[in-house]
Amino acid sequence: MSDAYRQAWTVSITDRDAFWGAAARAIDWVAPPQRIHDADAGWFAGGTLNTAANCLDRHVAAGRGDAPALVYDSPVIGRVRRFTYAQLLEESGRVAAMLKRLGVGKGDRVVIYMPMIPETVFAMLACARIGAIHSVVFGGFAALELAKRIDDAAPRLILTASCGIEGGRLIAYKPMVDEALALASHRVEHVVLVQRDALAADLQPPRDIDWMTLRGECAGDPIPEPAVMAANDPLYILYTSGTTGTPKGVVREHGGHAVALAWSMANIYGIGAGDCFWAASDVGWVVGHSYIVYAPLLVGATTILFEGKPVGTPDPGTFWRTIVRHGVKTFFTAPTAIRAIRKEDPDAAFLADIGTGDLQAIFLAGERADPDTIAWLEEKTGLPVIDHWWQTELGWPAIASCFALGDLRRKRGSAGFPVPGYEFVVLGEDGQPVPDGQSGSITIKAPLAPGAFRTLWNNPVGFARNFESFPGYYETGDAGHFDAEGFLHIMGRTDDIINVAGHRLSTGQMEQIVAQQDGIAECAVIGADDAIKGMIPVAFVVPRAGAADPDTLVRMVIAAVRAELGAVAALKTAYVVPQLPKTRSGKILRNLLRSIVNGQHVECPPTIEDPGVPTIIRAAVASRSAL
Ligand code: COA
Ligand code: AMP
Repeated sequence: MSDAYRQAWTVSITDRDAFWGAAARAIDWVAPPQRIHDADAGWFAGGTLNTAANCLDRHVAAGRGDAPALVYDSPVIGRVRRFTYAQLLEESGRVAAMLKRLGVGKGDRVVIYMPMIPETVFAMLACARIGAIHSVVFGGFAALELAKRIDDAAPRLILTASCGIEGGRLIAYKPMVDEALALASHRVEHVVLVQRDALAADLQPPRDIDWMTLRGECAGDPIPEPAVMAANDPLYILYTSGTTGTPKGVVREHGGHAVALAWSMANIYGIGAGDCFWAASDVGWVVGHSYIVYAPLLVGATTILFEGKPVGTPDPGTFWRTIVRHGVKTFFTAPTAIRAIRKEDPDAAFLADIGTGDLQAIFLAGERADPDTIAWLEEKTGLPVIDHWWQTELGWPAIASCFALGDLRRKRGSAGFPVPGYEFVVLGEDGQPVPDGQSGSITIKAPLAPGAFRTLWNNPVGFARNFESFPGYYETGDAGHFDAEGFLHIMGRTDDIINVAGHRLSTGQMEQIVAQQDGIAECAVIGADDAIKGMIPVAFVVPRAGAADPDTLVRMVIAAVRAELGAVAALKTAYVVPQLPKTRSGKILRNLLRSIVNGQHVECPPTIEDPGVPTIIRAAVASRSAL
């Protein structure tokens, strides 16, 4: 074990104030924190700062204005645009001026529903600059999901673009925004839209405003001074799937977020000023917030905004090409992306041809990294491949090998060790710690580290629920175990969340949509194993008497989930069955359905109501009655 890691972890738990007090010195404070941790006020109470100024202004002031900050690389439009720190400050400052012109101020919410274009990053930093709270909504969500977020966040504005480009397809965003606004009860004042060359959107003035026109009108306005924010003021709200149909609005605070992200760059990823870091994710997810936008800029590094897919844009060499072209030192992606590349380029011919340039390490997260994928990637790149684990709620890695602290221990199938700041305990159903090797609920002893959420937007009760099952411990919703060497293994969820291509989705939410369709008596949606996406949702539906024919029902169910939740749900398989397997008390045996779909041996639980049902289900699955 690396002594540096062991010492850091121990001090972070036994002398929290000393550890995080030292880490906080990496951030420029307007007023320094008066307390490092306070049970009520959270992290860095009394401290004031501005996150955007920490990301931009201070680097420019330190003479690094010409250093590269943001590289936009879009294989889908065949364009690379580079922004220095001075240019990124100017561009995000212009957007801040636009927001000010529209009356947006400290504490106002701004929903950002935008593709992976530089204006999205400008917008996030502009909000941070003036103290507005941004809420970025991933483009793959449908209008109804966007509407739910609009109603919950109650933004003054929506910032959007005419389209996203998904591989070879154009996705028109404006119709989605219009539909969401028609569905939402909350009224926004304006929609500000970037017209992209690929597709023009219709604007309805005075509500809708063209981004570039407004930018022109505000060209003479001064760039607003960075707002002075309390450490525990919200920086952003990011909605994530909970176990109900209502998304949870994770609230991220300025102070803890800035300190934790800066610490992680130096001590986990090994990135500092002048280095190039690339997180191949989307700004709509937490990985994008933390590691495309904020963390690399906080430490003065270069970040890559990649508008493409691991395959098909144009080929499975696109990741390696991007890494070499921009001199990426540390790369972060989801295992699903590597599986997609491997499927198209099993011998890694593109990789052999292009190489990995300056790359020193690859980090994987978002879903379990299967040992086979890690082995392939390590063999083909000759680089350390480090699985690490975290969640939207936490905002930065909580389980990892702290590579930059010299901890190179890795075990395929494990996400690593508790990161400094996080004390993990695996608890049994009785709330007692289980012995090493035994599986249980993965929990984190309170308080959570800086950067982790301290509430949910409009929903403090929902937040408190995370601490209810095991008082004093945060329930992560994941199950797993420590092994004898202290590696933590994540084995799955204890709730209905599934990870589809690294995207977090709730099968319970899909069930709610399916159950509401005409002719459905009851249904179950489970996560089946998938060779590329890790998991995919599969629906089982029981028709009512007189319902449409099975093919029509299946089509209807698939279309409904796509229309209401979004394409990202990727529900493409549904089976019509006469009944669902249930216990005598009426509980649907979802694990049994999952085993059948995965082709695993099925042990019928003794509590099953009708032991004949699994045979019927197996036959339905085998007959490939799914579309
Ligand atoms: N806007 C609009 N639609 C989107 C979208 C976006 N931003 N992102 C995805 N979608 C759509 C896709 O077009 C697709 O639609 P389709 O069913 O009509 O084809 C659907 O949502 C599912 O998308 P996706 O899960 O991305 O599947 P895919 O088959 O297009 O690509 C992978 C598969 C593995 C290449 C892709 O999922 C991938 O790159 N995954 C990595 C994810 C990642 O980095 N996650 C980070 C979290 S840490
Ligand atoms: P999200 O909030 O979208 O980041 O999803 C968080 C969830 O993804 C976690 O609770 C896990 O279930 C899963 N997850 C993320 N990273 C990993 C990993 N490295 N190994 C296993 N599961 C992971």
